[in-house]
Amino acid sequence: MRHFLDIDRLPADTLRSILDLAVAYKRGEAAPGGERPCAGKTLAMVFEKPSTRTRVSFEVGMKQMGGLVTIISQSDSQMGRGETIADTTRVLSRYADVIMFRTLRESSLLDMAAHAGVPVINGLTDKSHPCQIMADIMTFEEAKGPIKGRTVAWVGDGNNVCASWIHAAVHFGFQMRVATPRALAPEARMVERARAAGADLVLLTDAYEGVKGADCIVTDTWLSMGHGVNTDAALKAHIAQLEPYRVDEDLMDAAAPGAIFMHCLPASREREVSGAVIDGPQSVVWDEAENRMHVQKGILHWCLSGAGA
Ligand code: CP
Ligand code: NVA
Repeated sequence: MRHFLDIDRLPADTLRSILDLAVAYKRGEAAPGGERPCAGKTLAMVFEKPSTRTRVSFEVGMKQMGGLVTIISQSDSQMGRGETIADTTRVLSRYADVIMFRTLRESSLLDMAAHAGVPVINGLTDKSHPCQIMADIMTFEEAKGPIKGRTVAWVGDGNNVCASWIHAAVHFGFQMRVATPRALAPEARMVERARAAGADLVLLTDAYEGVKGADCIVTDTWLSMGHGVNTDAALKAHIAQLEPYRVDEDLMDAAAPGAIFMHCLPASREREVSGAVIDGPQSVVWDEAENRMHVQKGILHWCLSGAGA
C-alpha cells in the first residue's frame, strides 16, 4: 500500500520522484494531450480541523486529473457522534480509492492507515505536515535551484511544520537551522531520530544567529490549531516568548543575500511576520500555496499508480 504518511517514512528517491511528477504537472507535461490519469478514481477527504489550501488544492488537483472527490468532517459525519476511525476507514475504503486525513492526533492517522484498504495521505497532524513541505521544497528549487547543500532557517515555534522540514533535511540533504524559544523547541525524540538518520540540524535560541547564511527563512503561526494555550495569561506569556522571533526586514537582512521567505499560511501579519516581509519582494508564499496543488497531484499519482516508486 502506497501510504503518504510522513517524509521520514519514505525513501529519498520516492520523494524526489513525487516532486518530479509535481513539476511535470505544473508544466502540463505529466498528463499530455488532456489525459486524465485519475478518471474513475475517488479521493475521500476527512477533516478534524479546518483547512483552506489543503482542502481546495487536493479537490481541484484531483478533479483536474479526472477524478472525483468526497469530503467529510468531524462535525458533519458520524465521527462526531463517536464512530471510530477504524470503522470509518473500513467504510471509506469501500467507496474511495485514496483517503486524505487531517487529524488532531498522529495516532489517529496511524490508526486509519492500519485499517485502510486504500492509500492514506497525511493532510496534517499535531506532529507533521508532509504535503506542505513537499510543496515548500518544490518552491525553494524553483526560486533558488537544487536544495541539496543549501541552508534553510526556521524561526518561531518548533511545531508540526518545523518537524516536517527537519524530516526533509535528511532526505534532501540541506542544512536545517531552527531558532525557537527553549520551551518551544522541536521534540527531542524527533530531533534525535533525525540526527541519527543523518540530518544536518542546528538548534538555537537566537533568531539572528539562526538565520546566518540561510538561503530561506521560514516561519509559521505562533498558535497552531489544537494548541493547548487555554487562558489569557498563558496566551500572553506564549506570545511574549515568541516576540523576538518575528520575521521582519531586519531579520531578512541578516540572512544570505537574496534569501527567500516562506510561510505555509494562514499568516498573522505583524505577529510571526511583518507585512513588509510577507508582501515584499523576497516572499514566495503565493507560489508556495500554488505548488500545494501541483504536489498533491504528484502525491495522488504516486499513491494511485506507484509511478516512479
Ligand atoms: N498550509 C495549509 O495547510 O493551509 P490550510 O490549513 O488552509 O490547509
Ligand atoms: N502549524 C499550523 C499549520 C497550519 C497549516 C497548524 O497546525 O495549525
